[in-house]
Amino acid sequence: MKVEPTDQPFGAIVTGVDLSAPLDADIIAAIRASWLEHGVLAFPGQVMDDAALERFTLAMGGFGEDPFFDTVPGSDHVAAILREADEKTPLFAENWHSDWSFLREPPSGTCLVGIDIPPTGGDTLFADQRAAFAALPADKQDHYRSLTAIHSARAAYAPDGAYGEQDEGRSMAIRPGESARETCPHPLVQRHPETGEEALFSCGGYIVGIEGMADEEAFKLLVELLAWQTDERFIYRHRWEAGTLVMWDNRRVLHRATGGYEGHRRELHRTTIAAWKP
Ligand code: SIN
Repeated sequence: MKVEPTDQPFGAIVTGVDLSAPLDADIIAAIRASWLEHGVLAFPGQVMDDAALERFTLAMGGFGEDPFFDTVPGSDHVAAILREADEKTPLFAENWHSDWSFLREPPSGTCLVGIDIPPTGGDTLFADQRAAFAALPADKQDHYRSLTAIHSARAAYAPDGAYGEQDEGRSMAIRPGESARETCPHPLVQRHPETGEEALFSCGGYIVGIEGMADEEAFKLLVELLAWQTDERFIYRHRWEAGTLVMWDNRRVLHRATGGYEGHRRELHRTTIAAWKP
């Protein structure tokens, strides 16, 4: 197996391993170690059906909870990130986020496999929150360490949310629900449970406030912080090819979808990796 850092600020490309074959303990440990080192791993040229994607996800730590999505037929864990060529709905997942950060135990990682990739556009952007935190001045780091953010899925998945009842014509199997209104506090800066490194855990997509702070003040802080978090020097842009599996660490990176492929179909299959248990 060969792991080569990308020519961008972070992320690595992994070749020389067939992820659909049974993986021995040494290879699993080497992949997880590279993932913790680089934050995002891309494995081009894989032949992964849904069963193989499930086996790989189990090997990386087991399945995370996936609220608000139906799975693809024949699988209990694989969801399709899908947009038909003629679809007019707003792009899915265009806001910066860490997957399902509103859960008490958000997934440690996510796997996404390119199935049907448009000839242009549809890149996924990743932002390194370890580097973004490390580059802050010490007084800002201390301030952010003292804050607790309130996460919720309500703006996206409540019946009146962006993917709610008015969201007609979407091909993805999104299932909004009242439970999206629940809130969950998480420290704005978190120590990675496996590497011990601190990172910002703040995402525009799911944070609805900051404990003890007026909404207007919190919104201003979060907008200013997001601009810092997503500065070019912290970004890895992934350009998709069919057969590439990308695996990212939700405790370290934010991500978002991009458009630019109007008139073309885009389909990727996704699993989440369970929260890490020591
Ligand atoms: C996601 O956030 O899971 C999807 C990202 C993408 O479609 O590029």
